[in-house]
Amino acid sequence: MERTRWYKDKVFYQIWPRSFKDGNGDGIGDLLGVYEKLDYLKELGVNGIWFSPIYPSPGADCGYDIADYMDIAPEFGGMEAFRAVLEGAHERGMKVLMDLVVNHTSDEHEWFQKSRQRIDPYTDYYIWRPAKPDGSLPNNWDSNFEGKAWTYDEVRGEYYLHLFAIKQPDLNMDNHLVREEVKKIMRFWLDMGVDGFREDVITYISKKEGLPDDHLFPIYKGMPNYNHGPHIHEYLAEFKADVWDHYDIFTVAEAPLVSPELALKYIAEEGGQIDSMIQFQCECADCLFTDYIPMPFSLVRMKKAFSDWQHKLRGKAWNVLYIENHDHPRIISRYGSEKFWKESGKTLAASYLFLQGTPFIYQGQEIGMLNWKPRSIEAYRDVQSIYNYHHWSPKLTEEQKLRKLWRSSRDSARTPVQWDNSPNAGFTDAETPWMDVNENYHEINVAQQLADPDSILNFYKKAIGLRKSLKSVRYGKYIEHFPLSPTLYCYTRELKCEKLLVLCSYSDKPQNLKVPKGYDLSKGSLVLQNYASPLPGILQPYECRVYLFK
Ligand code: GLC
Ligand code: CA
Repeated sequence: MERTRWYKDKVFYQIWPRSFKDGNGDGIGDLLGVYEKLDYLKELGVNGIWFSPIYPSPGADCGYDIADYMDIAPEFGGMEAFRAVLEGAHERGMKVLMDLVVNHTSDEHEWFQKSRQRIDPYTDYYIWRPAKPDGSLPNNWDSNFEGKAWTYDEVRGEYYLHLFAIKQPDLNMDNHLVREEVKKIMRFWLDMGVDGFREDVITYISKKEGLPDDHLFPIYKGMPNYNHGPHIHEYLAEFKADVWDHYDIFTVAEAPLVSPELALKYIAEEGGQIDSMIQFQCECADCLFTDYIPMPFSLVRMKKAFSDWQHKLRGKAWNVLYIENHDHPRIISRYGSEKFWKESGKTLAASYLFLQGTPFIYQGQEIGMLNWKPRSIEAYRDVQSIYNYHHWSPKLTEEQKLRKLWRSSRDSARTPVQWDNSPNAGFTDAETPWMDVNENYHEINVAQQLADPDSILNFYKKAIGLRKSLKSVRYGKYIEHFPLSPTLYCYTRELKCEKLLVLCSYSDKPQNLKVPKGYDLSKGSLVLQNYASPLPGILQPYECRVYLFK
């Protein structure tokens, strides 16, 4: 079947289901809630949804530990609710992507239960090893979430590898039977009408032969031996030939630690296996490698990440654009300013929504939700945050630990979406939601912003509408101006006579307005702005402006 490139004209919205909207009053977000909000999404202008996992799962990693790949969790409404949402989305012109999590399963998956008992054909579905002769772990790798990457299983009498939580054993993708299972799962959803997959840590699925110790990385030990492993392209090419090529779909790889050069091996339109990629480089504008090693925000680093990917993929591959997702704290709290909340929320939107690629918006981002700041570890739900908290140096005070969590935890961005100012932000009718809502919901919520023409939400609507109306945003050349400026992000998109100029201030003080050579503001029309009355020659704090020249 011909693979068209429909995804290049879409704007996706990421739903992290537990916290999106509770439709049946049990305190947990679900697909009934999603169904209720499909018109809201359509109004926003998005025409695609990526669902973080909604399969049956014990919830050790909020659904990224899957116990059954071919069903929908009862707490989300089961298969019936999913079919209704899928149909409802399609009726509204929205595509639907599922999260494909096949680096690992839940330890409660039937395959693992049989594998630990050596019941064929499941015996080698996972990565089992005995201890080293000296009794130590099979190798020195770290898990991403909970200490070392190996846990001993009494039933089998061996260790199993888990690159994430203890309850997330890694699949053995070198076993062709496992690859056949993955294909079966993909066909199951595609035959139902799903439009593609976001593929969770897909670059981890092929481990280096012999699983050697890692002597390179001081943290996340082992990563060079499993990220972009030896058979990765072979396995992806197999998935493409056997499954993806038979459907008109969009495939997106999640890829930690990847350069644009390396990305092209996966996503080049000529010779790649996948359509696009979620990479983490822009996330590193305020941290080193992980949110848990924070650094001051650097606009220059953010711009460099954006520009590198714009330049190096141009004409060869297609970008995924995002600034927020469920794995990182909220962006205004990080790159913007809580003080200039509204202004910086809009500036952040304008900074990425006019780049070349397919934008993704994470739930709550469109209303400028901020980091959550609970007073106790008891409020946290995320396995990684809880593990880290209990393993930080005992020298840290309670206050210091909480501050570290506010700044770094994934839960900072996982609180329920703030729909209105009724109890629990209108997220649920239950007395107690599964996770606390952010206390600021009286000031920040959807209902208030729908009614306010000047809201962040209405800015997103306008920006998305504008993006859709401009050919230069899809096809135009990207040029960054003043790359070394620490406070101004300025870029242009040019296609024949259509030119778009985007100016974004990242300063909490007024700054001189700089305009790139060849651009005369008096000849353009100001098509998007976050200050009602822009001043001549000056950008006000976190001001952004978008000019169109024809
Ligand atoms: C990806 C997901 C993250 C999950 C991890 C393990 O990074 O985005 O939420 O915890 O993979 O599946
Ligand atoms: Ca519910």
